[in-house]
Amino acid sequence: MTAVSVRAHLESLFSLEGRTAIVTGGSSGIGLAIATSLALAGATTALVAREETRLDDAVRQIRAAGAEAVAVPGDLSSRDGARAAAEAAVLAVGEPDILVNSAGINLRPPLDELDDDVWDATMGVNLEAPFVLGQRFGPAMASRGFGRIISISSQQAHRAFVQSGAYGVSKAGLEGLARSQAEAWGERGVTSNVLVPGFVLTALNRRLASDPERVEALAARTVVGRNGVADDFAGVAVWLASTSAAYVTGQSIAVDGGFSVH
Ligand SMILES: NC(=O)c1ccc[n+]([C@@H]2O[C@H](COP(=O)([O-])OP(=O)(O)OC[C@H]3O[C@@H](n4cnc5c(N)ncnc54)[C@H](OP(=O)(O)O)[C@@H]3O)[C@@H](O)[C@H]2O)c1
Repeated sequence: MTAVSVRAHLESLFSLEGRTAIVTGGSSGIGLAIATSLALAGATTALVAREETRLDDAVRQIRAAGAEAVAVPGDLSSRDGARAAAEAAVLAVGEPDILVNSAGINLRPPLDELDDDVWDATMGVNLEAPFVLGQRFGPAMASRGFGRIISISSQQAHRAFVQSGAYGVSKAGLEGLARSQAEAWGERGVTSNVLVPGFVLTALNRRLASDPERVEALAARTVVGRNGVADDFAGVAVWLASTSAAYVTGQSIAVDGGFSVH
């Protein structure tokens, strides 16, 4: 066997050179960490979110690190919005090889106070947008023989937690969607997997994160002894997006410091 350099080996396993990625929620938190990591691994990456200032800052940050990214303003709270965002992203970077569904909302009213509007808004962004984007991009990926769909669910897909009823339901649905996508397009080179965070210190948790006692108690529930940070998702996303993860599909992979096994 000829000697292979460490660099060549790592590139053959994980390089995303020549790939195109769309990351929803790419302007903040977990989505931004994943978008940055995919871009640095070689993928031309479109970031989709509503607020343009944050999107532009995110793109500037990725470009300053030496990678290529494009801002695509879009609102995923309706099916038409998701369809429009998909086409805008394709105009910006072309058809994607990699789709990351990280955009999400957690409105948190307990079930007693949960009305139709909160239910619909939660399902719209967290579940229906990944469905619409999957229908737009999954079959096209399959026809090209390669595709990677990575969705971000939550430990709340598996257990009730701090009374945020609709949120956990939407995330449980998202994990089911990924399994169906894996089955539908698996034989044609498309994988669909889910990353399952525990408690991650991002803007989504601003309110909870301002209570040091709660933050400490949540860290104590992990086995690692700390809460998550967005960069904990950077490596696993590149791996799932790469050719080396071709035989991993339909999985919900906890990235939670052991929260789910404690
Ligand atoms: N942080 C945690 O502890 C945790 C735990 C479990 C699961 N998660 C999941 O991880 C994912 C990322 O969360 P995060 O913590 O990184 O949150 P974050 O920092 O609040 O980021 C959320 C992203 O989603 C975008 N977004 C929200 N609504 C949108 C809409 N209608 N259309 C388009 N984009 C929209 C936001 O941008 P705009 O507001 O500008 O649109 C932002 O880029 C979410 O799906 C969340 O449910 C997070």
